[in-house]
Amino acid sequence: MTAPFRKPRPADPVWLSGAIWKEIEKTGTSAFLAACSPGIRLERWGDTLRALVSPSLAAGTEPFLPSSPPEISWKANRVIWQIDGEKTASLSLGSGWETEVQELGLGYGIDLSPGVAPGLFPDQRENRLTLRSLRPKSLLNLFAHTCAFGVLAASEGAATLNIDSSSRALGRGKENYARNKLGGTEHRFWAEDVRKVLPRLIRRGEKFDAIILDPPTFAHGAKGRAFRIAHELEPLLISCLALASRRCAILVSVNQSGTGESELATTLREILAREQVRARLRPGHRPPEVPPERMPATLWIFRED
Ligand SMILES: C[S@@+](CC[C@H](N)C(=O)[O-])C[C@H]1O[C@@H](n2cnc3c(N)ncnc32)[C@H](O)[C@@H]1O
Repeated sequence: MTAPFRKPRPADPVWLSGAIWKEIEKTGTSAFLAACSPGIRLERWGDTLRALVSPSLAAGTEPFLPSSPPEISWKANRVIWQIDGEKTASLSLGSGWETEVQELGLGYGIDLSPGVAPGLFPDQRENRLTLRSLRPKSLLNLFAHTCAFGVLAASEGAATLNIDSSSRALGRGKENYARNKLGGTEHRFWAEDVRKVLPRLIRRGEKFDAIILDPPTFAHGAKGRAFRIAHELEPLLISCLALASRRCAILVSVNQSGTGESELATTLREILAREQVRARLRPGHRPPEVPPERMPATLWIFRED
């Protein structure tokens, strides 16, 4: 009988150097991109390694257990093998899909079930570090997802308002607050469409020291009104400017192919000039392990009027 045809195993992904690995761990972080090659990404999520393989590479390739280089002593207790974009995955070591990770010393619940958002975007880690350094007294976290920016600001003493249309994501956000022993009425969680909430906040005269504007590129609206970043960015930013205190910092993050940092800076400068708001722009920071092409365009607006 002829042996079944198997594709040769794809080239091993290139791991972070031991020095960068240690540098990231030293910040109290256990969720980051551990290794990559064209077609394979190995993500570390706490005690778990998740291999995301492109569909073209995956066809005919058997799942294998990726081994880390000797200078990295960390060993995964669980390995998940998943074809990128597919709704199924297999475990080649360990069991279960949920885990907990640390980022900048704070804990977050992670769900690695296929087809579910893990619950943390490690590419925003450096921007969360910037937020920490600003020590705002109040934060408006728009498109909050599982509230990672909210948790960070709350841990520094800020009052926080997290808004996301997904009550499930916000429920996970509340669990993240509880996980980090952050409670109290100064933290609010509103499951609503950001576009509907902003006019209400402006009418109430609320002001914030920091605002996170990290919208999706596209989302189906709950009641039929789809969200498209190309149409929505300008009105959203104008509303944020009305909610910004005098020295407010606003993080704008856009994850759209064709919109790099310089295109985003041009758009933001035009809006600020039209609205007659004096402000300084500063590029966001990319974590050392994230390849430039996988980073959204991020800019901080520092109000100066
Ligand atoms: C890119 S994620 C935000 C990531 C988040 N800033 C973080 O760092 O974890 C986008 C979020 O926007 C939410 N969303 C999409 N359309 C929305 C809308 N119109 N109003 C409020 N939230 C919306 C989604 O539920 C999702 O959680």
